[in-house]
Amino acid sequence: MPTINKYVNIDTVEREAKKDYIDRHSPFIHCASSAKKGDMFAVTVKMGNEYTHPDDFDHYIESVTLFNGETKLAMATFIPGTLGNEKSHAEVTFNIRPMGKKLNLVAHAYCTKHGVWESTPVEVEVAE
Ligand SMILES: [Fe+2]
Repeated sequence: MPTINKYVNIDTVEREAKKDYIDRHSPFIHCASSAKKGDMFAVTVKMGNEYTHPDDFDHYIESVTLFNGETKLAMATFIPGTLGNEKSHAEVTFNIRPMGKKLNLVAHAYCTKHGVWESTPVEVEVAE
């Protein structure tokens, strides 16, 4: 069973190398705080806030997965070179159709060297 690394606020971390390590491996969810039931809703997941991750053949972000609670909604996969082999913020926008009363969004990302990383959850109100 893989360890699931969870994002911690890097302002609470002292060592610069550790801030960089945590931030560049963490998926961040960007979306509106409310959605309309049945309408398409864009959810962007971007890797890292302040620090970029390598895109090397032996070390890259291989996938980004979006969940609503326990339910897997969507997954994007990358190959090394998607980002030109340059250090970057891997990013993907999923267009989903919310049907319940709210979304409890969580993203996971997988680095080929450093494993699975989980975002801070984001709650979205879904109006009729
Ligand atoms: Fe990594």
